[in-house]
Amino acid sequence: MSAGPTSAGTDARAVGGEPGAGPLDTVGGPPAPRVAAAGGGGPHVVGPVSEIPPGEGRAYAVGGRQVAVFRLRSGALRALDAVCPHRGGPLADGQIDAEVVVCPLHAHVFDLGSGACRSGQDDVTSYAVHVEDDQVVVVLPVEM
Ligand code: FES
Repeated sequence: MSAGPTSAGTDARAVGGEPGAGPLDTVGGPPAPRVAAAGGGGPHVVGPVSEIPPGEGRAYAVGGRQVAVFRLRSGALRALDAVCPHRGGPLADGQIDAEVVVCPLHAHVFDLGSGACRSGQDDVTSYAVHVEDDQVVVVLPVEM
């Protein structure tokens, strides 16, 4: 349920920042048993939704991954791997519409819902993302 933000929420937002902050793990002291230790799977609070202007994306270090969270103009959120599989471009800085993000480096196009590349490159992983108490929560797959 609502875990409430901690200071870790603001520390984890830059690409290349401290990986694996796992803010939900810090609530209540001991590690949360529902989150797999190895892959950092499960829900991660990454920061306030107000950090992402409508129509833009932001990159966060989440459980050892770099995840781009996009806020559509409708207010809906989408989350994909932040690193373009073509040559490592920053997808969070790409132009978006309601369906796709265009990589800012060479303009390959990725589906915001599925992560599928629509222009012939490898696909990226998509993640479940939602808002809880005005905080963006990215859910990583649990890999056992
Ligand atoms: S790095 Fe993304 S299209 Fe080339």
